[in-house]
Amino acid sequence: MTIHVPLDHPADFENFRSAARKLVGHNIDPAEVTWGGAPGGSLFGDDRPIATLPDPIEPPRASKAFVTLAQTVVCHKDASRFALLHRLLQRLQADRALLKIASDPDVARAHTLEKNVRRCAHKMKAFVRFRLATDPDGGERYVAWFEPEHHTLDRTAGFFVRRFPEMRWSILTPTRSAHWDLETLTMGDGADKSIAPDGDVNEDLWRTYFGAIFNPARLKVQMMQSEMPKRYWKNMPEGEMIAPLIRGSAARTSGMIGAEARTPARSTRIAREKAAETAALPTTIDSLAALRAAANHCTRCPLHGPATQVVVGRGPPNARLMFVGEQPGDQEDLAGAPFVGPAGQLFDRALIDAGINRDDTFVTNAVKHFKFEPRGKRRIHKSPNVSEIEHCRFWLDHERALVRPKLTVALGASAVRALSGKSQAVSKLRGAPLTWPDGSPGFVTVHPSYLLRVEDAARPREYERFVHDLVRLSALLEPVASAH
Ligand code: URA
Repeated sequence: MTIHVPLDHPADFENFRSAARKLVGHNIDPAEVTWGGAPGGSLFGDDRPIATLPDPIEPPRASKAFVTLAQTVVCHKDASRFALLHRLLQRLQADRALLKIASDPDVARAHTLEKNVRRCAHKMKAFVRFRLATDPDGGERYVAWFEPEHHTLDRTAGFFVRRFPEMRWSILTPTRSAHWDLETLTMGDGADKSIAPDGDVNEDLWRTYFGAIFNPARLKVQMMQSEMPKRYWKNMPEGEMIAPLIRGSAARTSGMIGAEARTPARSTRIAREKAAETAALPTTIDSLAALRAAANHCTRCPLHGPATQVVVGRGPPNARLMFVGEQPGDQEDLAGAPFVGPAGQLFDRALIDAGINRDDTFVTNAVKHFKFEPRGKRRIHKSPNVSEIEHCRFWLDHERALVRPKLTVALGASAVRALSGKSQAVSKLRGAPLTWPDGSPGFVTVHPSYLLRVEDAARPREYERFVHDLVRLSALLEPVASAH
C-alpha cells in the first residue's frame, strides 16, 4: 500500500512538514509515498491518503538547519525532492549530526538542490521584468511573466514586496503566481504563457485572467482548469464559466502594452495629490519618513509641476553604501521608487553579479522629480540642468546627513555635479576612491542607463567594466568603515 500526500502547489512546504511528521513518526518507507498530483498514482491504484494516518505518539524532531534546508529544497523541480527530504528526516532521528557529513550522498544531494534553488531565486530577483497593464477596474498594475528553472516564486515574492511596496504588481509563472495590492500578497495558481505572449502582457488576456483570479467565486475555476482535464468540464457546475474565459482569451485586440510610456490615470493623480496635501508637514527633518513627507510638498524648482510625485531614496536608514543616480525616470515617477525601470533592472543585475545586496544599500537620485518632455502619449526623459540639481541638493544633503553612509557613489554626471558641486567628466573620476567636498569618502562610476545606450557590440564589455567598478567600491567599504 502506498501513502499519498496531496500538495497545494509544487513548493508546498507546509503540507510537506505535516506529512513528514506522520510518515517519520510511523516509520514509513519513503519508497512507499507519492507526493502531489492526483491520488491513485501507485501501480495498483491503492493509495491511502495521508489524512487517514493518525498523529504519531512520538513525533520526530527536526533541527532548525533541516527546516531551513527543506524550505529551500522543496522549491526544486527534481521529482524526488520530497522523498529525499523524508529520508533525511528519518535518518536524522538516529544521527543528529548527519547534515554535517558533507560526503553523505543524501546530504550532498540536498545541498546541490539547495544551491540550485538559491541561484534560481537570485536570477529571478534580477531578471523579472514588469510591464504596465490595466486591471478590470481600470487601475494600474505592473505585470511580469517569468519562467524560473525551479519553483522559486513563493520564496522571492517577499523580496518584490519590499522592493516595490507602492505599486500593484503581479508575477506570473507557469506553476504559481503572486499578486501584490499594496497591502496583501496573494499567492495563486500558475498562468498560461498566452497571457503574456513574447514576455509582454496582452491587455485583454490579462484582464480576463486577473478578473478570474481575483474573483473568489472563480478562484476554484483557475485551479480546476489546471488540474482537471477538459472532458470533465461539462459535468462541473463551474464548467460554463470556463468557456467565456477561453473566448475572452481569444479576443486579442489591444496589441502589446508596456512599450509606451504612460501618464497615470487622472484619478490616481488626484488621489496622490490629495494624499500629499493632507499629509502632516513635519517642521524638522529628523528621519527619512519626515523627509519623505516634507519632500511631497517640494516646490523648490518647477519640476514638481508635471511630475506625478516626488521620488526620494530607498534603503535602510543605516546603510553603509549610498548610490546616487540622476533623477527618477518614467517608471520611477509612476511607482514612487528609485531605479525600478529599465536602468534600475540593469543596475539590480549588476549589483547581484558584483555580490552586493541592494537591500543593504540606500539608493537615491540627485534630483527627486521626473523631468520630461511630452511627445504624444510618451514622456521623453530630459536631463536636469545645473539649477535643478542645485535646488534639489537640499534633499540629497538631508538624506546623506540622515543615513551617514560610509561610502557615497555617484552614478553618472548629474550625481557628480550634485555631490561635488562642480561639473566634471565621469571618465576622469571613474573607478578610483575620492573624497567629496564635505570630507566623506566617495566613488564615481557610469550611470546604468549608459549601458543601455552604448552600441550592442560594446555592451558586454561596458557591463563587465561597470560590475568591476561595483566590486571595487564594495571592497573599499571595509577599510573605509574601519577608518571612520
Ligand atoms: N535613472 C536614475 O538616475 N534614477 C532612477 O531612479 C531611474 C533612472
